[in-house]
Amino acid sequence: MKIFTTRATLSGYLTEQKSLRKIIGLVPTMGALHAGHLSLIEQAHKESDVVVCSIFVNPTQFNDPGDLAKYPRPIESDIKKLENSECDVLFMPSVSEMYSEGEEWNISLNGLDSILEGKIRPGHYQGVTQIVKKLFDTVMPDKAFFGQKDYQQVQVIAELVRQYQIPVQLITCPIVREADGLAMSSRNVHLSAAEHQQALVLSRALNLAQQLFPVKTIPEVKDEISRFVKQTDGVELEYFEICDGKTLQPVTDKDDEPLVALIAAKVGGIRLIDNVILE
Ligand code: PAJ
Repeated sequence: MKIFTTRATLSGYLTEQKSLRKIIGLVPTMGALHAGHLSLIEQAHKESDVVVCSIFVNPTQFNDPGDLAKYPRPIESDIKKLENSECDVLFMPSVSEMYSEGEEWNISLNGLDSILEGKIRPGHYQGVTQIVKKLFDTVMPDKAFFGQKDYQQVQVIAELVRQYQIPVQLITCPIVREADGLAMSSRNVHLSAAEHQQALVLSRALNLAQQLFPVKTIPEVKDEISRFVKQTDGVELEYFEICDGKTLQPVTDKDDEPLVALIAAKVGGIRLIDNVILE
């Protein structure tokens, strides 16, 4: 695996690869890699000739400095995991390589950044679009792979691509879960064994929502799920919403399709999110 830390050396290498008509697939990450991230690498492998993974803990998308400081950064084991997954290129730039001082960024995201995660984490999606735009400009990938785990992020990036007419194909990959149903996340390492058990309420709530959806109205499903989650000790529900799959506006009517159920909760102080597409 080739490792690059500067934009210039990475884009020099990729220009050569593109001249050989290789299809470039990009998997952006913040590291602390788990099977969810590696499933994106695997999918990228199937659909591209050169797989580029980026590891960059992007400071502009963290609104809580404490959260940024405690973000796990196990770089040696990440490199091993990428090598075992036959990733072709790792891009791991420094903060100063990606940002100049006092840099500003602000795009209109059609309201996508003021609801759900955007409401709870102001500025988060501005930071995400800022870094993803830079990664797209540097790598100029044919395809970019993102996880459905961060459903709202996928819609936000689709909006970025649309506004800037970026010639990249976005591919959304399914959520990878632990055997017990918990959606994999770099934050799960902070959960104690007891908190891990409590956190299972998120995926259970989504399973229940899927069962109730065909037989109940949307307001009934929302009530029942909120009650179900609030019964679990140690879990603080932030939201459970049923939304239009593209605009992410809450809906009350089943005619709008596709629909997605999204949940966020704090378990032992750790924020967890999960979602399911309602069929
Ligand atoms: P990060 O949280 O490291 O996630 C990198 C990618 O892995 C995202 O596309 C995310 O949706 C996907 N992913 C995480 N957990 C997953 C799971 N259990 N199953 C499937 N895919 C999963 O998302 C980010 O980083 C950043 O916001 C980034 C896009 C890199 C911009 O900084």
